Amino acid sequence: MDLHRRSMLKRISALAPAALFPTAVPAQRAAPALATRQIPSSGEALPVVGLGSWITFNVGNDRAARDACAEVMRAFFAAGGRMIDSSPMYGSSQPVIGHGLAKLGSAAAPVFSAEKVWVGSGERGPAQIEESRRHWGVPRFDLLQVHNLLGWEEHLPALLAMKAAGRLRYVGITTSEGRRHRDIEAVMHSQPIDFVQLSYNLLDREAEQRLLPLAQERGIAVIVNRPFREGALLRDLQRHPLPAWAAQIGCDGWAQVALKFVVSHPAVACAIPATSSVAHVRQNMGAALGPIPDAALRRRMAEHVQAL
Ligand SMILES: NC(=O)c1ccc[n+]([C@@H]2O[C@H](COP(=O)([O-])OP(=O)(O)OC[C@H]3O[C@@H](n4cnc5c(N)ncnc54)[C@H](OP(=O)(O)O)[C@@H]3O)[C@@H](O)[C@H]2O)c1
Repeated sequence: MDLHRRSMLKRISALAPAALFPTAVPAQRAAPALATRQIPSSGEALPVVGLGSWITFNVGNDRAARDACAEVMRAFFAAGGRMIDSSPMYGSSQPVIGHGLAKLGSAAAPVFSAEKVWVGSGERGPAQIEESRRHWGVPRFDLLQVHNLLGWEEHLPALLAMKAAGRLRYVGITTSEGRRHRDIEAVMHSQPIDFVQLSYNLLDREAEQRLLPLAQERGIAVIVNRPFREGALLRDLQRHPLPAWAAQIGCDGWAQVALKFVVSHPAVACAIPATSSVAHVRQNMGAALGPIPDAALRRRMAEHVQAL
């Protein structure tokens, strides 16, 4: 099969409607079947809702606080979650995740580990990655992303070499809050990356213009950060009644509405809301169940929220 045809088929299968509907999960896990999306570069399926860790898991050394985060992780995995995202920038989040993974054990915590390299100098990248890996206690990361493109020219070749050597599964880049979209676009055009992470939510929709269509065209999986604008979006929305159409897509509250909007964009592989609450993580994972809004409802959702 020629390369063009193969990449076309990968893209088509990554976007196939079947990928939007719940798929089977391994028999040993008593979790509900969540909606998944395929990573275009591999075909691997991932649940469309993951877990962030900025601020919420930066709880220091306090044992009770670490155990509380482990309970959030337990509820996340019990609901069928896979991807947890962190960074050396997030204070104690990495060792807190490591504590949770060790406490739960690998059978109860089938994590897809999404980490970042965040240091200006390429020379210091490998040592930072190794320290992060020790904090998590995983044999290797599933995904390493260059955080906010810091030093990307030096880090990307090293990450791609790690991937080629089998010491890493996927390579990506990140940005947030609409920063450096032109640079992100240039890297998406020129580098063989598997993932791009960016901000996208009911109010911050700049990525729809260029980056999300480009990700589809290039077969790059999109991770969405700040789906709740650090919580501010939900605090605003919760002052308003839930619209009638929310029930049509099985949403029990604004958090699920906000997440369903994000993950129903065909380019999006996974949204990674952060939370310190077991009740909230359960609510958030519920957004990966039930009907996914179509294009017409997506427009209605965005118009409704913009008008509030
Ligand atoms: N450049 C980058 O690479 C970059 C930049 C930004 C973010 N990120 C990643 O993306 C993740 C998500 O972004 P974020 O943490 O900035 O913001 P976010 O996920 O949009 O919002 C997190 C906030 O939402 C609240 N929340 C979560 N679920 C809720 C629910 N069901 N109901 C009510 N409130 C809820 C949380 O409070 P509670 O604790 O009370 O639930 C928390 O304060 C980060 O944690 C990080 O992993 C990466």
